Amino acid sequence: MAQVVWAANRGRPVGEGATLSLTAAAGLVLRDADGSLVWSADGSSGEAVAGLTITRSGNLVLLDGNNASVWRSFDHPTDCLVPGQILAEGMVLTPNISTTNFTANDQLHITVRDAGLYAYAGSSPPQLYYPDHTTGNPPFAETKPKYGSSYIAFINGSLISSFNSSSTVSAGDVLIDLAPPRSLQYMRFETDGHLRLYEWQNGWAVVQDVLGAGDCAYPTVCGQYGLCNNGQCSCPSEDNSNLAYFRPVDNRRINLGCMPVTPISCASMQDHKLLALSNVSYFNYVDADLPQMIDEESCKKACLRNCSCKAAFFQYFGNNTSQGSCYLPTQVFSLQVNQLEVTHYSSSAYLKVQITQPSPSPRRPSPSNSNGVVNRSTPTGKRRIVAGAIAGFTVAGVSLLAAIITRLVVSWRRYQHRDDDDEFGEVPGMTTRFTFEQLKVATRQFSKLLGKGGFGSVFEGQIGEHRVAVKQLDRAGQGKKEFLAEVETIGNIHHINLVRLIRFCAEKSQRLLVYEYMSKGSLDNWIYFRDANRPLDWQTRCRIITDIAKGLAYLHEECRQRIAHLDIKPQNILLDDNFSAKLSDFGLSKMIDRDMSQVVTRMRGTPGYLAPEWLTSQITEKVDIYSFGVVVMEIISGRKNLDYSQPQENVHLISILQEKARNDQLEDLIGMNGDEMQIHKEELIQMMKLAMWCLQIDYNKRPQMSVVVKVLEAKATKEQPYQ
Ligand SMILES: *[C@@H]1O[C@H](CO)[C@@H](O)[C@H](O)[C@H]1NC(C)=O
Ligand SMILES: *[C@@H]1O[C@H](CO)[C@@H](O)[C@H](O)[C@H]1NC(C)=O
Ligand SMILES: *[C@@H]1O[C@H](CO)[C@@H](O)[C@H](O)[C@H]1NC(C)=O
Repeated sequence: MAQVVWAANRGRPVGEGATLSLTAAAGLVLRDADGSLVWSADGSSGEAVAGLTITRSGNLVLLDGNNASVWRSFDHPTDCLVPGQILAEGMVLTPNISTTNFTANDQLHITVRDAGLYAYAGSSPPQLYYPDHTTGNPPFAETKPKYGSSYIAFINGSLISSFNSSSTVSAGDVLIDLAPPRSLQYMRFETDGHLRLYEWQNGWAVVQDVLGAGDCAYPTVCGQYGLCNNGQCSCPSEDNSNLAYFRPVDNRRINLGCMPVTPISCASMQDHKLLALSNVSYFNYVDADLPQMIDEESCKKACLRNCSCKAAFFQYFGNNTSQGSCYLPTQVFSLQVNQLEVTHYSSSAYLKVQITQPSPSPRRPSPSNSNGVVNRSTPTGKRRIVAGAIAGFTVAGVSLLAAIITRLVVSWRRYQHRDDDDEFGEVPGMTTRFTFEQLKVATRQFSKLLGKGGFGSVFEGQIGEHRVAVKQLDRAGQGKKEFLAEVETIGNIHHINLVRLIRFCAEKSQRLLVYEYMSKGSLDNWIYFRDANRPLDWQTRCRIITDIAKGLAYLHEECRQRIAHLDIKPQNILLDDNFSAKLSDFGLSKMIDRDMSQVVTRMRGTPGYLAPEWLTSQITEKVDIYSFGVVVMEIISGRKNLDYSQPQENVHLISILQEKARNDQLEDLIGMNGDEMQIHKEELIQMMKLAMWCLQIDYNKRPQMSVVVKVLEAKATKEQPYQ
């Protein structure tokens, strides 16, 4: 059963009698029977083509006289990726319209940027649907700074992301874990918006849904305007009303979507109204790096003011509708019933509808509509008031925007200023720097790579008696900001549970940081049962948890300035010879003035560890406490919070924890951890409760880290005030 994984002439199949020719001058040329040119490929700068080959991995390559490739099919992907293939910035995957028609479905595409994979629906403007925010993670959670061009590679058992600056494909970070290959695999982006991994098992079988979201989270699952609830589609209707504003496009195939009974007309905007659907959410809420935080009424008004807006989606926490994120799409794809326990936010949807026909011969939308509940005869005076209020709002909106822009410009200038300033000498306790030459010697020409982090590579080195770890930040000014954050944050603080920054080097474009050497590497190599060669025992796990808590308590409460780490995860926790844990990687950290309650920062950190308030930009050190809760759960359960190799319902560990806690079934979670954990059942449950205390949505309710430390040191004795 052969599968088509690449097609030259996607939208233009040829008939019998068509010819494919390879000539030195014209390259590879496909002509239809009547001689018309259908498709061609040749050397980019007109080099003569001398040959054609197909590589083992399936790359069709045109070669010049020196056997160098001048054109590669891998550079022009269609809907598939095969192992070894790279999707670079600027390349897109689009699905075939159907299994028999290979025309590109331009309603969907996948691209790469910032070393991340992004999937979009629609075009003007495209609407992001992956990364998915319904697992509690907002999209645009950046794990990488924005620079250079990046790519995604499909290699053995994972999708990795990397930057073009590094020479080898395997140097990247794993973006998505894939089912380990047992035989031939390929990946296809399909017309329902799913990216599926196929494997040969006496036939082609789907082994993984790579983007991993629930069915209802896909933008075309129920067509335009279709409402998805547990995989079932229906047309949206107003709460407590029998007016039909939407009807199925095709009565027999409800999953093809719905359409407004009366088309929306920009000529009569006064007859637009918003149909309220409570507890309905949309796959996309955030379209900018900084989500627009406004109140619900303003969000709705903004949609009514602009005819291109087809709906207002408003997302907020708890009952606080005075601050939330607002999304105003120009095209409405599938809606979904909001599952509060998964998303952790409340959500309301307002769909724009036209209450009557704009034409002078008004036609009632449908018979069921003729009871005339909607009263159109708005007195003119009243309308003027409404218009006045809207104009007032616009002025307020403009000045708010101006204020925000001014603020951004000011902070950008400040940042620029700081960035250009090469004087690091003022960092107390860091008076001596290393020269680049010294570090080259210390690391023996950067020969032993210990690992690659978000912003650079770490090498082993030797300075005098001491083994050290030298982090070389990515070149060409990249990661400068992270460098400064790191030097300023931990350059002058010392604590047994923070990795010590010994010295640094800043010479021309070189930025290096020298740390104490941590022989056991990062925590993620030790806690997951799936890949740990020697899982840590329970006592060690507990000790590590206490160490992390102490490190955080110091940062949050004991330093002269409050410090929020903002990227707590196992990869950033290092272990020494004795498995003492120390926090590292302060590249995203922020100092918070004692008199300031929060920091203003862009959404970032790592999916799976982000506290829900990232959505609202109310960032305090409490986000670390949430991430700590996630890490505690990972340490005691031996799996990642987001594990896409699990069946759909088990992907998100924290959701399982919450569900089990609600049903008083925390014991169920212990079974996952093998015999050793059974012995420590009581302590384990206490630890889960501690984690839940830290994982509360309302960050004000999360405990201070010093309190967590006290609880841990008291060995979680009896009735603690959890929750
Ligand atoms: C494939 O789909 C496109 C777009 O719907 C259509 O224009 C074209 O005729 C179809 N081709 C075939 C061979 O059915
Ligand atoms: C793929 O990865 C698996 C396990 O990670 C390894 O055993 C196997 O040798 C790898 N195969 C290739 C071709 O690299
Ligand atoms: C209306 O919304 C569209 C799409 O978001 C936007 O491009 C356009 O500028 C808006 N028009 C006005 C007048 O705000």
